Amino acid sequence: MVRFSLAIVAAVIAPVVSSVQITVKSSGGNATTRHQYGFLHEDISNSGDGGLYAELIRNRAFQSSERFPANLSGWTPVNGAALSLKTLDKPLSRALKTSMNVAVGSSKGQVGFSNDGYWGMDVKKKKTYTGSFWVKGDYKGTFTASLRSNLTGEVFGSTELRSKARAAEWTEHSFKLVPTKSAPNSNNTFTLTFDAAGVKGGSLDFNLISLFPPTYKGRKNGLRIDLAEAIEGFHPTLLRIPGGNMLEGYTNKTWWDWKETIGPLEDRPGYPNVWGYQQTNGLGLMEYLELAEDMNLEIVLAVYAGLSLNGDITPQDQLQPFIDDALDQIEFVSGAPTTKWGSVRAKLGHPAPFKLRYVEVGNEDWLAGGAAGWESYKAYRFPMFLKAINARYSDIQVISSGSVFDGYDIPAPGNGDYHIYGTPDAMVDQFDLFDQTPVTHIIGEAAAVHPNGGSGWDGGLMEYPFWIGTVGEAISLLGYERNTDRIIGAAYAPIIRSLDRWQWAVTMIQFAADPALTTKSASWYVWELFADHLMTHTLPVASESSAFNPLYYVTGKNEDKGSYIFKGAVYNSTDGADVPVSLAFEGVKPGTKAELTVLTGPADPYGYNDPFTGVNVVKTTREKITAGKGGRFEFSMPNLSVAVLETVPSKHPKRKTMRNGFRG
Ligand SMILES: *[C@@H]1O[C@H](CO)[C@@H](O)[C@H](O)[C@H]1NC(C)=O
Ligand SMILES: *[C@@H]1O[C@H](CO)[C@@H](O)[C@H](O)[C@H]1NC(C)=O
Ligand SMILES: *[C@@H]1O[C@H](CO)[C@@H](O)[C@H](O)[C@H]1NC(C)=O
Ligand SMILES: *[C@@H]1O[C@H](CO)[C@@H](O)[C@H](O)[C@H]1NC(C)=O
Ligand SMILES: *[C@@H]1O[C@H](CO)[C@@H](O)[C@H](O)[C@H]1NC(C)=O
Ligand SMILES: *[C@@H]1O[C@H](CO)[C@@H](O)[C@H](O)[C@H]1NC(C)=O
Ligand SMILES: *[C@@H]1O[C@H](CO)[C@@H](O)[C@H](O)[C@H]1NC(C)=O
Repeated sequence: MVRFSLAIVAAVIAPVVSSVQITVKSSGGNATTRHQYGFLHEDISNSGDGGLYAELIRNRAFQSSERFPANLSGWTPVNGAALSLKTLDKPLSRALKTSMNVAVGSSKGQVGFSNDGYWGMDVKKKKTYTGSFWVKGDYKGTFTASLRSNLTGEVFGSTELRSKARAAEWTEHSFKLVPTKSAPNSNNTFTLTFDAAGVKGGSLDFNLISLFPPTYKGRKNGLRIDLAEAIEGFHPTLLRIPGGNMLEGYTNKTWWDWKETIGPLEDRPGYPNVWGYQQTNGLGLMEYLELAEDMNLEIVLAVYAGLSLNGDITPQDQLQPFIDDALDQIEFVSGAPTTKWGSVRAKLGHPAPFKLRYVEVGNEDWLAGGAAGWESYKAYRFPMFLKAINARYSDIQVISSGSVFDGYDIPAPGNGDYHIYGTPDAMVDQFDLFDQTPVTHIIGEAAAVHPNGGSGWDGGLMEYPFWIGTVGEAISLLGYERNTDRIIGAAYAPIIRSLDRWQWAVTMIQFAADPALTTKSASWYVWELFADHLMTHTLPVASESSAFNPLYYVTGKNEDKGSYIFKGAVYNSTDGADVPVSLAFEGVKPGTKAELTVLTGPADPYGYNDPFTGVNVVKTTREKITAGKGGRFEFSMPNLSVAVLETVPSKHPKRKTMRNGFRG
């Protein structure tokens, strides 16, 4: 009977779980920005060169800087050729001064070089690879370009082109290569050879050797399709460019100078990237703008503000040139084609101005320069930029790189930027952080990176976005969306990283040369779910049976679709029990149908999507539910779950907007 009495005791002490009663009013909320969910991209962990930027050739133009001297990394001689770097009297261009000399020596037959790519190359049959290179030297004959296995030597595709090379000048050669066979893995190289017998003078000089697979939206100098599509797949609506630390540079001589990132590739010198490698700047300002255009993203454009990572601070009397430069940049992005910099953009093929409503001044100015950097920002750097930008562009929202929580009493009409890399608990604490903050902010960088109890950048970081952290992110997003009248949007950061270059703990998408390894993290699924149910307005709640916790939520509607929306997440429920929810929207009648999507995670709250197993730990359940008595939707949410309910409109939706509710 012992067992029996225990059961009775258990039944008596089990909490009487009454449902959370939520009744949503039909009016009284705030219009949303319509770009609540976005991302930050910068070239970290080879997420640009060797990542989103589709170029397959590594070290294609031997670009260098004081910090990163030119080298031949990536290049291997073929058939006894001797490779060396040269700075010729007549370089390819002012920007690309160093080239590769290929000496034939005593070799006979086909000689040349191969390139390893960024930890290999993906080779797919029937796809068109677009290549080009510049050569200087006296050569009569043909060049052979091929893609081949680095393991077996098997050639998957090759093409020949007649030489136009001349001794006295650089000539460009272009080709198309269509493999007849797919490579079984990504351990492949690109090889370029020529006939030793046709070379006069013993060697040829090469530069800007480039090979692109098909690109996203077919753009020249474009993006890797699977990565762009993985990003586009979470329905982002906001893009913060051109990154964070990357903007600032190591010193005030080497910040991310946007003028060196536009125009023909021959004119781009590259950049000593602050993440430890020379960057090509192939993915430049224009490419970022085109990415934003192709994905319908609202742009948040950051301008250099006189602070670099080594703590260089521009004195007040030397700041004006940087302000002028920022005004040029804004004109390049959004000026009419008749303006000075708008006409440069037009010449680059984009006469129509890009829409630009947000400009951010600097990046994390409270950090790199210590107290002096932050003081200078508050004392003159931000105020001077704010005044100058708004004097010329009164409709642009200027954003300071710090928030009120960094101790900045941001001068009007400036806005703030708040960054959070936290534990799951810290992400949950975000929920009401902005409830009492009158100043508008962007959440320019956000991600759960530490386990609860963890901290610091050198240890205690998770490897990939992890389920309990992702639920924490969901709750912070709910908080931001509730305050949509003062939150511009939130950007996940950083968005992608190469598995071959580990530089940052947690990113939304992982990749390698082999597209089979492209992996959407747990966070991808949560952000996707929220972003896919865009609210045009939040709606207040008439009554709540309990305060938030363990259920956190935001309610609203999509006026274009004629639907009502609930987004919620459960964290740390009592004894891990399910939380029953009873939800009604004023004016929504019994019998109304809704789609309920619930995401749950693995048994281990710290479980994640491991690219090497390919197992998705996020379980998605979707069901149609119907409003019962009083128009109430009854459902329950497990501990550590994320859910969206959206009513199915009874009438035809107004088709005013494009995908994601973005107004084109
Ligand atoms: C709308 O914004 C106002 C002003 O910030 C705020 O007081 C109110 O609570 C908001 N309404 C909702 C439903 O969030
Ligand atoms: C193939 O390439 C991958 C990725 O760079 C590498 O890890 C692996 O060692 C390579 N395999 C061989 C046999 O070289
Ligand atoms: C090709 O093989 C060489 C020698 O084993 C190795 O160093 C290089 O990383 C390989 N490259 C690729 C793309 O697999
Ligand atoms: C070549 O230069 C790059 C910097 O752009 C550096 O990352 C790499 O380690 C260098 N390689 C060698 C072999 O020195
Ligand atoms: C660059 O930084 C140095 C050292 O911090 C400073 O003396 C100099 O004035 C700065 N120059 C500019 C143009 O910002
Ligand atoms: C989780 O719940 C436990 C017990 O109710 C409580 O002590 C703890 O503070 C909660 N943690 C959070 C982050 O809410
Ligand atoms: C409920 O969620 C909390 C975190 O919010 C987690 O620590 C706990 O393990 C979960 N409880 C159960 C029984 O799953």
